Amino acid sequence: LDNGLMRTPPMGWMSWERFHCNIDCENDPKNCISENLFRGMADRLAEDGWKEMGYDHVMIDDCWSSMLRDKDGRLQPDPQRFPGGIAKLARYLHNRGLKLGIYGDLGTHTCGGYPGTTLDKIETDAQMFASWGVDFLKLDGCYSNEEEQQKGYPLMSKALNATGRPIGYSCSWPAYRGGLLPSVNYTLLGEICNLWRNYDDIQDSWDSVQEITDWFFDNQEILQPGRWNDPDMVCPLSPVYMDQSRSQMALWAIMAAPLIMSNNLRTLTLSLDHGLYTKFTVYSPFLCLYVTLFFLQKRSHIEVYWRPLSQSASALVFLSRRQDMPYHYHTSLAKLNYTAGSYKAYDVFTGKTLSGLSATTEFTVSIDPSGVVMWYSFPLSTTEWQCRQRSTTT
Ligand code: DGJ
Repeated sequence: LDNGLMRTPPMGWMSWERFHCNIDCENDPKNCISENLFRGMADRLAEDGWKEMGYDHVMIDDCWSSMLRDKDGRLQPDPQRFPGGIAKLARYLHNRGLKLGIYGDLGTHTCGGYPGTTLDKIETDAQMFASWGVDFLKLDGCYSNEEEQQKGYPLMSKALNATGRPIGYSCSWPAYRGGLLPSVNYTLLGEICNLWRNYDDIQDSWDSVQEITDWFFDNQEILQPGRWNDPDMVCPLSPVYMDQSRSQMALWAIMAAPLIMSNNLRTLTLSLDHGLYTKFTVYSPFLCLYVTLFFLQKRSHIEVYWRPLSQSASALVFLSRRQDMPYHYHTSLAKLNYTAGSYKAYDVFTGKTLSGLSATTEFTVSIDPSGVVMWYSFPLSTTEWQCRQRSTTT
């Protein structure tokens, strides 16, 4: 969508995977869907260094609204859980240099049973979101049929544009049509939405991460390169599963996916988790060239993914699907289809650089079970390889 927004995949925090539709503020005041939760997460993003890394959106998911529209037919937040209202919450975020995302559903009801946005309500809701100062809308698709989606998703795009307020637009449309051709028109999606959910919801499990990964890699040819296919939130697991969390981050980064965390920012071990997330901001592939992704090798339950970046640089992810022990994987850049020449490789997680690799040099990487090794590789002739910063990316 050519609205000048989200020229790089959006980053931020979203409530759904971690907090779902927990509306029990009486018994669980810290974790229920309420303005306190979103303010609290905004504080963490702003004060703990996340914002500087690019995590600048706080996105409300389902279950924020009242069970009924107001007397003028407008959506309204639940008065007990959002006593200050959405506009005040947006101001709170804006004062901290953050952006506010909200959730709507094209249909009679949201998936959680709250009022949905039927076709006749699209303009009203777009105006309401804009008047509150919302910066992003995730439009889900429960309780609507194919025809309504066909009309509604483009209409909402127009209605948001007509508000005059820049609002990033995420469409769940393809996820409701199976994500594949011919039911999904990715060209049209690229014209009307900034990003879109293609596939099922992520769960906080390694199985779910693997299943989503498989779907995106198996179907990459039909996905829109250079546009934001959204494999869903990053929900790093507990430190016990650090390898799997790294794997998800590496795979999402090499897919140029939006990095929208759904976790409890209040209880993270910053030294550990910052390390996990920051790796992707400095040398981040998605700050560079957005082109298709390839799957290079699959052997001994190790998979190697490759993505070309700007200035002949590229990203490599060696993923282990093994469950036994760290595996020593032998290969060479030539075996990974690199052309003759000399290269250096930057290891994203160890921070070490390997120089003097010729295409034919045999090397070994040690990959933990369900873990990854991620490299950025550059031809030695690249004197200074750098990606432009987010703010200057055009
Ligand atoms: C389905 C979506 O795919 C999820 O991400 C979440 O928004 C839920 N609906 C909310 O009900």
